[in-house]
Amino acid sequence: MTELTSQKDASLAAIGAATTLDALEEQRVGALGKKGWVSLALKTLGQMSPDERKEAAPAIQAVRGEVAAAIEAKKAALEGAALEAQLASETIDLTLPAPSVPQGSIHPVSQVMDELAEIFADLGFAVATGPEIEDDWHNFTALNMDESHPARAMHDTFYFPDTAEDGGKLLLRTHTSPVQIRSMKAQGAPIRIIAPGRVYRSDSDATHTPMFHQVEGLVIDRDIHLGHLKWTLETFFKAFFEREDITLRLRPSYFPFTEPSVEFDVGYANEGNRRVVGGHGDDEGHDWMELGGSGMVNRRVLEFAGVDPDEYQGFAFGLGIDRIAMLKYGMNDLRAFFDGDPRWLSHYGFSPYDQPTLSAGVGVKS
Ligand code: DAH
Repeated sequence: MTELTSQKDASLAAIGAATTLDALEEQRVGALGKKGWVSLALKTLGQMSPDERKEAAPAIQAVRGEVAAAIEAKKAALEGAALEAQLASETIDLTLPAPSVPQGSIHPVSQVMDELAEIFADLGFAVATGPEIEDDWHNFTALNMDESHPARAMHDTFYFPDTAEDGGKLLLRTHTSPVQIRSMKAQGAPIRIIAPGRVYRSDSDATHTPMFHQVEGLVIDRDIHLGHLKWTLETFFKAFFEREDITLRLRPSYFPFTEPSVEFDVGYANEGNRRVVGGHGDDEGHDWMELGGSGMVNRRVLEFAGVDPDEYQGFAFGLGIDRIAMLKYGMNDLRAFFDGDPRWLSHYGFSPYDQPTLSAGVGVKS
């Protein structure tokens, strides 16, 4: 019995000292487990005389109860402490500022495309699109550049090894002009569209990237003439650059798909190392800058597109979107447009809230 008492005291002390549930479990197994000292003590009852057993049994059971109760109590205490610690470690300070979330921005090219759509919509133009993987016929032939036309060689075309269903060559469109053909074929005349999008040429230096952006314009109706073209471009540039003093100069040129063909220049001045559009190119401190090509749509192109050239005529134009974005927003390296550098994008990019609208302004930059 004295042994039992000293075992009990040692056990209760160890239970009291246990700081982890594992240590406590060790004590439980050591006392109440199959080979624990309480279980062994109970086994001794079998060898006792009835009188001895009468005395010993309640004493052992009492010890067993005491140890079991101590373990239960300690277990509850340890579990409670663990929960407290977990809750303490998981508290959230609601007064802390929200963590910064990476924010995207609208690329200047996308913004300018939206600006174009907004301005031209006001002039009655719909936005048309065409495939970037084009065929030879839409990109060249229907635009009055047959197989042997020298202008084809000037386009540095990326060709695919595969051929189109009709046997023609497949290529990455070198300009947005094939959308003229597709739109006229689909819609007929009269038609008034712009077609902004990506174009590709095998060309790369500080001012040329293999992929760049153009916007095509097409107006086909009765009695359309070059005066309408000049007014349309001038009105567009005034709205786009948000200034009234835009002067446009049309210069005779040549494109297979227009006749007559003109290139259009705008007057600008150098301010610091930046070109600022505005004023007359022949004025003091000013010069002319070429922005794009245009002309009256060649009657052969109308025929290819299924429009009767004796009934309808019109003008077309094409200009570089990246170029006018650089002029308007002051970037000077075209290549940076397509590097995907987040610093460049956060500097030159637009907030998604800056939706270009004619009432709020097409050039809002926050
Ligand atoms: N497609 C021409 C190019 O990429 C640009 C162009 C010139 C488009 C005259 C036109 C146009 O619609 O009439 O160089």
